[in-house]
Amino acid sequence: MLNDKKLILIVDDEEDIREILSETLKSLNFEYLTACDGDEAITLLDQCHDTIDAVICDLKMPKVSGDQVIAHGAQHYPLIPIIILTGFAQLDMALDHIRLGAFDYMTKPFRVKELLLLLNRALEYRQLQEDKIAYQNTLEKRIEEATQALHNRVVQTVSSFILAIEEKDRYTQGHSKRVAEYSGLMAKALNLPEEERLDLLYAAQLHDIGKIGISEHLLNKPGKLNKIEYETIKTHPSKGVKILEPLDFLGHLLPIIEAHHERFDGKGYPKGLAEDNIPFLARIIAVCDTFDAMTSGRSYRKALPLKIAIQELKDGAGSQFDPQVVDAFLNVFEETLELKMLSQGAP
Ligand SMILES: [Fe+2]
Repeated sequence: MLNDKKLILIVDDEEDIREILSETLKSLNFEYLTACDGDEAITLLDQCHDTIDAVICDLKMPKVSGDQVIAHGAQHYPLIPIIILTGFAQLDMALDHIRLGAFDYMTKPFRVKELLLLLNRALEYRQLQEDKIAYQNTLEKRIEEATQALHNRVVQTVSSFILAIEEKDRYTQGHSKRVAEYSGLMAKALNLPEEERLDLLYAAQLHDIGKIGISEHLLNKPGKLNKIEYETIKTHPSKGVKILEPLDFLGHLLPIIEAHHERFDGKGYPKGLAEDNIPFLARIIAVCDTFDAMTSGRSYRKALPLKIAIQELKDGAGSQFDPQVVDAFLNVFEETLELKMLSQGAP
């Protein structure tokens, strides 16, 4: 026996049967509760389901019958095994009830040995189910912990790379952080699912990582770049991909990072992708990136006033930028950004 103090609910409308079962269970060192009909059984199940270990249930009872008790138990307390107590005449019905969720059946008159065997089997089965659930919960917890650990690793890696970019290019200090901030607002405005929101945030922070591979002199050069210099700067999206390629847990971000200078009309770089061929998250970063580049100072020019930057985005909708993304950005700007930026002293 698994435990000599298991609590069994006896459900039968015949007082004699309830008494015999009670006495038998008592002699076998079980505890018991009794219900004289289905209605009382359901009430007891609802009140004591945390402590009831198994149910022995008659089928034919006045008012609420055994099948309703079985249906209620199977639906609300599937871990509690229900053993049907039935006469030979109702054997077919008993088998139907097993299909509906009862654990097994026992025919009247029952033998003590048979009752004990059946109860132990039911309780063992319940224990197995509980162990299975506990194991699944442990597994889910471990997966959750592993996901969190991976998330932390991404955050640490991204933070370290940002420090490296900003160390090199003093004019872009805070740029990655701001582009990520705008991207976060866009994710909310566009109602992106959580996974995509995180991808967007990481890619936004890492989009210029390839600048690590461009000379400091070129990145900080005051004045206009010549053609060769500009072509060199244009290699930074592909360089970013090369730098991050060995980190397979960031692999899904590479197409986004590579495409952040693509244009909606196909005239961008490095691949000249257009419209839907540009990853959607890269189209979002393109708008946030350009907006921040315009509204913060560079080695070759001062920050543009907000009004002009917004007009540039509007003018670029459909050519440089995805118009749907520009629309979303304009809403974000009006609702959140404008006031914040003006209060921070933006021109
Ligand atoms: Fe860039």
